[in-house]
Amino acid sequence: MSTAPSASSLSGPASTSQTFSAKEFFDTQPAPASLGAHTALVRDFVQRQQKEGRSVVLVTSGGTTVPLEQNVVRFLDNFSAGTRGATSAEYFLSQGYAVIFMHRQHSLAPYTRHYSHTTNPFLDLLAEPQEGDDTAPSSLNAPDGWRLGMGRGPHTHSKVVPIDDGAEAQPQQSQARAAGASSHPILVKSKHTEKLLPVLRAYHAAQKAQTLLRIPFVTVTDYLFLLRAVSGEMQTLGRRGMYYLAAAVSDFFVPEQKTPQHKIQSGKGSLVIEMDQVPKVLRPMVQDWAPEGYVVSFKLETDPKLLIPKARGALERYGHQLVIGNDLTRRKEEVVFVELEKEERWLRLSEMREALRGGLGGEVEIEEAIVKELCHRHQQWFQQAKLG
Ligand code: PMT
Repeated sequence: MSTAPSASSLSGPASTSQTFSAKEFFDTQPAPASLGAHTALVRDFVQRQQKEGRSVVLVTSGGTTVPLEQNVVRFLDNFSAGTRGATSAEYFLSQGYAVIFMHRQHSLAPYTRHYSHTTNPFLDLLAEPQEGDDTAPSSLNAPDGWRLGMGRGPHTHSKVVPIDDGAEAQPQQSQARAAGASSHPILVKSKHTEKLLPVLRAYHAAQKAQTLLRIPFVTVTDYLFLLRAVSGEMQTLGRRGMYYLAAAVSDFFVPEQKTPQHKIQSGKGSLVIEMDQVPKVLRPMVQDWAPEGYVVSFKLETDPKLLIPKARGALERYGHQLVIGNDLTRRKEEVVFVELEKEERWLRLSEMREALRGGLGGEVEIEEAIVKELCHRHQQWFQQAKLG
């Protein structure tokens, strides 16, 4: 993913741009402050999944930023909202994989994506509170910590009653609260409950099973440090680990050493920005960080003619298992699977609708087909290694 530099240097005369190797990058750029804590979370998560015999997939998702100041006021970004990653993560979970969801902070996330603040704002699902809404709901069972029932009395709404803020409610406490003794029920308009329930159930099921770990990043530097660390922790999974690199990673950045500390002042004419090339990390990823893993990268192009040659070029250069090609404007309708020495395979939503079940939100999404196909290929690859 390119964040194309329009010109050069952040302040004044042209400086010399540099091409960083991966090693130089990690030796000279600052690791994110939370790296140690996040790595520890990943370690625990991987150990738990391994004990339970689950395959684990790392899903990277969303765009990376390039800060223009150390005290960041301005930064460069890209288009990705993290739809591909968040949607795919849900399907991986439904296929029995544990998911490390490494995502751009505040981008779309599995389950909550159905109710983001812009599409389907959550407050729009709720009815305006009315007098008497704190009466007892009927006893339809909802996921833990919540009670859901059809509205009674004058309202034709369903009720979702928070019993406890995430903690396990004590039996008497639940009874008391469900009876409306100390909490006011929140009414969900009935037309929304049908769609909300499966999402809510799947969300709580993943929480209960502890199969989803969310790790945020913001800058391209954070992303690369995290990718290396998370891959390192996943090495113990061997072939049970899959790497699904769907994040839109900037190809250019401003090294910390060339980034001004304070806000760039206006009034000196145009701003000229020079960016250095971000090292391609697929090579160290395949060779050193995840040598036994099943590595899937994405190739994004805007010129459809370039898609397959570029995908094949990446496979030849880096030697990983699979590239999924997607064209910017058609990425939700079709993708192409490219493997070395095999014919490419197009997955087209228009040709597959009948064969797909549809997601939690009721829509048919291309990620369902992508993830099914990938899980199948990954499991086959895993079995082959066991046999031979
Ligand atoms: O989030 P959405 O709006 O749903 O969009 C999804 C998507 C279009 C972003 C996604 O499907 C996608 O194509 N992601 C990869 C975009 C990208 O970075 O493409 P690229 O051609 O620049 O890079 C190709 C591969 O090289 C990527 O898998 C990336 O992980 C890897 N890479 C990139 C930069 C870098 N420095 N090192 C890398 O190894």
